[in-house]
Amino acid sequence: VSAQDLVVAIDGPSGSGKSTVARRVAAALGLRYLDTGAMYRAVTWWALEQGVDLADTERVAQLARELPLELGTDPAAPTVAVAGTDIAAAIRTSRISAAVSAIATNLGVRAELVARQQAVAREGGVVIEGRDITTVVAPDAPVRVLLTADERVRLSRRALEVHGSDDETAVDATRDQVVRRDADDATVASFHEAADGVDVVDSSLLSLDETVDAVLKLVEARSGVR
Ligand code: DC
Repeated sequence: VSAQDLVVAIDGPSGSGKSTVARRVAAALGLRYLDTGAMYRAVTWWALEQGVDLADTERVAQLARELPLELGTDPAAPTVAVAGTDIAAAIRTSRISAAVSAIATNLGVRAELVARQQAVAREGGVVIEGRDITTVVAPDAPVRVLLTADERVRLSRRALEVHGSDDETAVDATRDQVVRRDADDATVASFHEAADGVDVVDSSLLSLDETVDAVLKLVEARSGVR
């Protein structure tokens, strides 16, 4: 495979570091970067913005099909906009994080977003990151990686990200959300165990640089791209 055609699929739970790792891998190889979690978050933002009842699955799925979403795939500066409004910061708020599972478990929404993600995968030259990329979106990708980390490590990383600290109070404040979200998410995509042919990278004991190196080594071993 040439870098131009290459698809690197990366899945993992929250706090596994997959977004940062995926961006760094894309930048190192000159590939584009697609954050599929941002797409579920964008649908959530749009539905709340429109005042749609998130439990109305058919209405929400229709909204997803009509979503005027623009994703910038430059790993150095990924962008997320809906109808020209930059929502990169808005989709990271706890309001969205708390509501996104209701959207991610909507099968009509998933069908629409998976189709959009597969269109990007078909163009090639991209690192795609999410929960069901190795299994559903790009099961034929030459490089498929499940990025894991111990729950304790994931909680501490998320606490640092959200609260700027990983002391006990910050970790406790993060635990409920992360554990519940993982449990909800796991009902639609199984990302706690690697599917057949998927390589596992456990980042619990690795620095960010070491994790990126481990994934780059897998890319070279599986695809020859370096
Ligand atoms: O990775 P993240 O926290 O930005 O993901 C946001 C939500 O979307 C999370 O609840 C998991 C879900 N998600 C999904 O179900 N499938 C994906 N491919 C990506 C994210």
